[in-house]
Amino acid sequence: MILMQSSPLLGSGNWIGSIEEVFLAILRSDAEPSKRDSDKSSKSSQTERSSVVSSRETSTDKKAEMNLRPESLKEYIGQSRLKNLFQMSLEAAKSRGEPLDHVLLYGPPGLGKTTLARILANEMGARIHVSSGPSLERPRDIIGLLHQLEQKDVLFIDEIHRLNKIAEELLYPAIEDFMVDITSGKGHATRTLRLPIPRFTLIGATTKAGRISKALRDRFGFVHRLDFYSLEELSLIVKRACKLFSLNIDEDAVAVIAGRGRGTPRIANRLIRLVRDYVHYKNYPVITVDIAHEALDSYQVDKLGLDATDRRLLEIMIETYNGGPVGIDALAATIGEDSETVEDVYEPFLIQGGLIQRTSRGRMATPKAYQHLGRTVPAMQMNLEMLISEDGSA
Ligand code: ADE
Repeated sequence: MILMQSSPLLGSGNWIGSIEEVFLAILRSDAEPSKRDSDKSSKSSQTERSSVVSSRETSTDKKAEMNLRPESLKEYIGQSRLKNLFQMSLEAAKSRGEPLDHVLLYGPPGLGKTTLARILANEMGARIHVSSGPSLERPRDIIGLLHQLEQKDVLFIDEIHRLNKIAEELLYPAIEDFMVDITSGKGHATRTLRLPIPRFTLIGATTKAGRISKALRDRFGFVHRLDFYSLEELSLIVKRACKLFSLNIDEDAVAVIAGRGRGTPRIANRLIRLVRDYVHYKNYPVITVDIAHEALDSYQVDKLGLDATDRRLLEIMIETYNGGPVGIDALAATIGEDSETVEDVYEPFLIQGGLIQRTSRGRMATPKAYQHLGRTVPAMQMNLEMLISEDGSA
């Protein structure tokens, strides 16, 4: 039996009950959605902008990927170093009859952080509860989630860098000691009640590892970065998806689609869906190299996998800012995006592809960007190339 005094969560008055009853009372205590919740959801739909090769996930991607998602580590293509590590940890955890240690996955969007979390839960024979940092706004949101957990369940929190301080602090004892701390009363009368919860695995995912507090990061047993996929890996993913969609495709056409997929499975899968629509509409029985080029050209995805927004970004850097250096905020404002979107969605692949260079004074278009847009490389930019190749940084 538990005695609890007045609590900001429970309202005032003494309260006596079982652990289950305490949880339920907390969950009932502020059932009204807060105004900030609804503000946030309308804001996020306002700022969403479509782009063929944006790595941001759309609801169509979500539905389509359900059918394409690998369910086991064996089916999962790429990230081989990570896969080997997980294979070992899974075996070890299973042989001890324990949950997997908490995992933090970071890296650019679309590389399969959610897919991996689902696979890890599958491999453990456990359930997965999926949530995200921004949706865990009030204490009852996170307490509600923790309350649903069973032994060895996986709790997946996407965009974990966006958890607020209160949610983060509620999470600490949960991940460290499998306890939830509930504070009751105010001032001198403040008391903390510790309630046990089942041993579970937290899998956090983020595109911004640098935004996670050290206190939270240190509580993860594994911290892993997901890398862009090689052309060979992406080709295997394209082949697998074509097979699942029953599409006939030539070997060389696979490489055309993979080559424009920006090293990102989510984008490669999206390009396959576009090509599929194109061949169905045109009644082509097989996807050949020419048809793949034709289809993707018609969607304005170029040979490097850049879409109209990427090219506009490079053009603005070159034309408005003479190739840079230009600050991220100025650049984002000129293309009408927010800085975070430019940093998270567009920039990683442009940097990885050697089209943008990040310098201490701002972003610069590289000679490769000039050449890709069919422009003459100015002498100053050639110097940048030499500086980069001499010491690896600019
Ligand atoms: N579909 C999306 N990502 C995948 C991956 N890494 N392996 C296999 N199929 C995928």
